[in-house]
Amino acid sequence: MTTTEHRRLGEAPDPATLDPAERLSVHELRAQQLERLRWSLRHAYDNVPHYRRAFDAAGVHPEDCRELADLARFPTTSKADLRENYPFGMFAVPKEQVRRVHASSGTTGRPTVVGYTERDIATWAAVMARSIRAAGGRPGDTLHNAYGYGLFTGGLGAHYGAEALGCTVVPVSGGMTPRQVQLITDFRPRVVMVTPSYMLTVLDEFEKQGLDPRESSLEIGIFGAEPWTEQMRREMEERAGIHAVDIYGLSEVMGPGVAQECVETKDGLHVWEDHFYPEVIDPITGEVLPDGEEGELVFTSLTKQAMPVVRYRTRDLTRLLPGTARPGMRRMQKVTGRTDDMIILRGVNLFPTQIEEVVLRTPGLSPHFALELVTRGRMDHLVVRVEARPDCPTERRPAAAAEVVQGVKDTVGSSVEVLVVDPETLPRSMGKLQRMTDNRDRA
Ligand code: DLL
Repeated sequence: MTTTEHRRLGEAPDPATLDPAERLSVHELRAQQLERLRWSLRHAYDNVPHYRRAFDAAGVHPEDCRELADLARFPTTSKADLRENYPFGMFAVPKEQVRRVHASSGTTGRPTVVGYTERDIATWAAVMARSIRAAGGRPGDTLHNAYGYGLFTGGLGAHYGAEALGCTVVPVSGGMTPRQVQLITDFRPRVVMVTPSYMLTVLDEFEKQGLDPRESSLEIGIFGAEPWTEQMRREMEERAGIHAVDIYGLSEVMGPGVAQECVETKDGLHVWEDHFYPEVIDPITGEVLPDGEEGELVFTSLTKQAMPVVRYRTRDLTRLLPGTARPGMRRMQKVTGRTDDMIILRGVNLFPTQIEEVVLRTPGLSPHFALELVTRGRMDHLVVRVEARPDCPTERRPAAAAEVVQGVKDTVGSSVEVLVVDPETLPRSMGKLQRMTDNRDRA
């Protein structure tokens, strides 16, 4: 990509190319949201026994929602509620109207099942198309889609959105890394959609084949489905010569395309608030926090037919900020991590993203690292294994490890153990990366 092209992508888009919803003022959007919210609460209450029971138990009725702030009086919904209603108990339409289901694999127990009507699928494609456009994608672009196809929402969600925008989709899915490189080289896509951790694997493969990824046709990477940091953005932009932007979503709310970062600002993700109403709550007390404060993200669907969600607790930690590139729609800051990924190490809270930041700014270290929690004596220890970069001299490794130990101590306040290991020795992801292994003794 030339510098001129780089700059051109950094400019604001022609407003005529945006969806009408992207041009609404905050005031117009709030009015539309209230109307849609009232419909959605009524739809959930009338058609899903779980919501009727939960609203009744909390002493609230859909009619009690007279302004958006009234939503705080309604009960939240958790993954456990979805599991208890496995498989189709949360659906609000007759089964014949459900065109597709997706499910989370779930590490333990039953998967969570979600469903879509024909209109839901069209809405999803529309918000996904909007997301790809905000990332800089255009009709006519070839888009290499390496998100996994199947029950995971990433592959098909991105696929339908890219088609709706008018792109040529290459539906590769994850895996068979040498072939990913071959297809990128031969089909010359402008856009790649993939998890950031798998993108790293693909970039390594380019280099292994003696190819410079900066010479590829790629200009834009739309990365999501797992947390990644600003340091990782820099790493990927420099190594691949692309714009790296963040996409967020979750199956329970829709799939990918709930929020998207705009390429011209790269300052957090605009929530497509005409379909998904965000709140941030204190994860302990459940109290709604003012915009700007960090807490757990909660979503209420405003238009979904098959499976409306009311105040769904995502477990993702972020804060809501005012709109920039799309002034009417609030942004969510890049997700720090999930409440369930938080490591409590001798009383100090720590997220894998904080380790990523330190590792990536340490010369000689690659972005490939794994975390293991172990017990020694009566103490918990966190062991960080990081791969050296292939060009890192062996003599440099001890100093690099010491710098990570110090960096984590300075930024988080915890002492961790760091082992710098040989390149290509840690597991690679083909989709979402599982960074943490918990091998602590259970007393
Ligand atoms: O991961 C949907 C998706 C696919 C989003 C492709 C983006 C791209 P689930 O499998 O249901 O759905 O997992 C949802 O993944 O609650 C977050 O914890 C995490 N997540 C998704 N996007 C991001 C992101 C898809 N951009 C869960 N940053 C969410 C951080 C993310 N975490």
